[in-house]
Amino acid sequence: MNISRIRNAFPILQRRNYLNSCSLGALSDRAEERLHDFVARWHEYGASAWYEHWWGLLGDLRGRVEALFAAPAGTVALMPSTSACLAAISSSLDWTKRNRIVTTELDFPTLLYQWKVRPDAEMVVLQSPDGVHIDPQQFADAVDDRTLAIATSHVFFTTGTIQDLAAIAAIARRAGACSIIDGYQGAGQIPADLPATGVDFYTAGPLKWLCGGPGLAYLYVRDELIPTLEPTITSWFASQDQFDFNAGEFRYHADARRFELGTPALATVHTALGGQEIIDEVGMEAIRARNVMLTDRLVDGCRAAGFSPRVSDEPASRSAVITVRHPDPAPAVAHLAHRGIIVDNRPGVVRASPHFYNTADEIDAFLEALGETVR
Ligand SMILES: Cc1ncc(COP(=O)(O)O)c(C=O)c1O
Repeated sequence: MNISRIRNAFPILQRRNYLNSCSLGALSDRAEERLHDFVARWHEYGASAWYEHWWGLLGDLRGRVEALFAAPAGTVALMPSTSACLAAISSSLDWTKRNRIVTTELDFPTLLYQWKVRPDAEMVVLQSPDGVHIDPQQFADAVDDRTLAIATSHVFFTTGTIQDLAAIAAIARRAGACSIIDGYQGAGQIPADLPATGVDFYTAGPLKWLCGGPGLAYLYVRDELIPTLEPTITSWFASQDQFDFNAGEFRYHADARRFELGTPALATVHTALGGQEIIDEVGMEAIRARNVMLTDRLVDGCRAAGFSPRVSDEPASRSAVITVRHPDPAPAVAHLAHRGIIVDNRPGVVRASPHFYNTADEIDAFLEALGETVR
């Protein structure tokens, strides 16, 4: 990995110590150039740009995301948001025989709200024994013949703990339920061969670790499942015969596009492709290895300075989302910002999330400034 070349591609790194990729991945000059191309073609060709350029880019992006997931062609749909993915998934499931969703208190709220608002849904919300992780056995104990789905995260946004997707998928499958994985905090930082894990649905997006900006989400659906699902919120993008413009007939698209919900955010398609190109060039294994190096340094440094990071005891289950218990997180984050270090706070914690483009020196500068907040 040529770290100085990579760093040069992300202008914010020349100005700030940017350690907040779990919130918003840094913007690369490659993504910015793509955005300029979008605007230039819009000026130059107007709607004709669709046929010459933009339509093809939708296919390019789906293809790159499929490759990222080691998934076959036709298994990824472009969606507006994780929440929209969940709504479309929910509408495609048969709620008449099973209505129980097993989820956890560590998942992102939108993953729970989806079922909370359904009067016919029953939720089982697993509680974490240590506030950091959920044991796979807890899922196994919670599923039964009324369970429609296990809905949980690849990486918990709260604690950064990586879950064992293959174990969760197998537990759901054995119970006759499906597995719905919120991969927003996983994709781009943790390598994943989704077909090998056996998960049924996996949602992600370019916003965070994929450095592609806000406005899009990705929905992976297991190959064999696709023809059996008919979402009841839909759009012309989900139609096999999209350009027949025949309002009298609707046939689902043969592939995962049957989940798509209308014209995707084209500006984000451009920035997402710019970010994805860099992620693909660096490679997921190299990104993971570098993030492990940076986060080990961060966790060890916090402990040496007397802080208590809220992370998994198992190093292999740790991701680059690191929350550090702090008596006064909001002023601490403001102090760090004053020092040019961008992190975030959540109740009771300062949260830092380095990515492959960060350096050991930046971690050390963060540790130094964090120490100042309690001295
Ligand atoms: C784990 C996780 N899921 C989902 C989201 C966002 O959901 P949506 O795309 O619906 O805004 C986030 C953060 O923004 C997240 O951290």
